[in-house]
Amino acid sequence: MKSILLTGAYGQLGLSFGKLFHSKYEIHFSGRNYNPKSGIYLDITNPILYDEVLNLIKPDLVINFAALTNVDLCEKNPELGYSINLGGLTNLVDLFDGPIIQISTDYVFDGEDGPYEENDITNPINIYGASKLESEKILLENSKDSLVMRTNVLYDYSQNTSASFLNWVIESLKKENEINVVEDQWSNPTWTSSLAVVIEKAIDKGLSGIVHWGDGDLINRYEFAVKIAKTFNLKTSLIKPVLTENLKQIAKRPLKSGLKPNLAQKILNVEPPSIEECLDSIKKQI
Ligand SMILES: NC(=O)c1ccc[n+]([C@@H]2O[C@H](COP(=O)([O-])OP(=O)(O)OC[C@H]3O[C@@H](n4cnc5c(N)ncnc54)[C@H](OP(=O)(O)O)[C@@H]3O)[C@@H](O)[C@H]2O)c1
Repeated sequence: MKSILLTGAYGQLGLSFGKLFHSKYEIHFSGRNYNPKSGIYLDITNPILYDEVLNLIKPDLVINFAALTNVDLCEKNPELGYSINLGGLTNLVDLFDGPIIQISTDYVFDGEDGPYEENDITNPINIYGASKLESEKILLENSKDSLVMRTNVLYDYSQNTSASFLNWVIESLKKENEINVVEDQWSNPTWTSSLAVVIEKAIDKGLSGIVHWGDGDLINRYEFAVKIAKTFNLKTSLIKPVLTENLKQIAKRPLKSGLKPNLAQKILNVEPPSIEECLDSIKKQI
């Protein structure tokens, strides 16, 4: 059985992967806010600790789910963003000789002309995207067996994250709070379980290089929020469409973004699910 170390394992994607594949692999969960019953403490910015954990577990593969995913916080505190998103991965590359899967983002692109293919030209417009792009380069320059899996707008209904748009919409509407949602940011939002399945297939195939994964519908955030509200029987009238420029967010956002999953579809023989299918599955689970 393959032994896999997951960093940032208690975030939304780590938990989905662990839940789906804990009996297929020997999975070692790690994180800062970890559960002592199921995992170990690991801050990926601490190379001494990282080395100890790697020597203890001796994994066949490491999946780096850990990241500072708060885009505005990265912009406000670039040192922190880079120390986690680039420094953490650099530590791993320095300390571990085996294959690594790094989860990256459509924010490596500028959002002028999405959805994007793997070979499209990168041009990040914020610190989060720049730090993730630098980490992609470090990984691919140093490890030919490793994989960069880019994805976009990940969501699940998870208590453990502030990174899920779905959580924010549901919790706000349940409290009857009005929410402003941008109608000019486009992406193909991706359910964490859909991506977890693709990661498992990529592991089985020993895939390396850069691969994109996003689910089946290219949609703007406002329309996505409306779909969420309808699925969970919440009031769509509380959702107000706005333009990105009026939100005055700290970090710039790519507008016309999203990722084309065609390469992964072909190599891994997998179909991206629709948003409706994913939302219905989540609703059944909670
Ligand atoms: N969310 C999205 O829309 C999205 C889109 C594209 C790509 N991605 C990428 O997908 C991956 C998974 O994201 P996600 O959505 O699951 O985000 P998430 O729920 O925020 O999970 C990230 C995890 O990393 C942990 N972490 C942060 N700093 C750490 C450190 N120094 N050492 C160890 N763990 C640390 C966080 O936990 P604590 O802070 O509690 O330690 C959190 O549990 C990330 O690489 C992200 O960049 C996400």
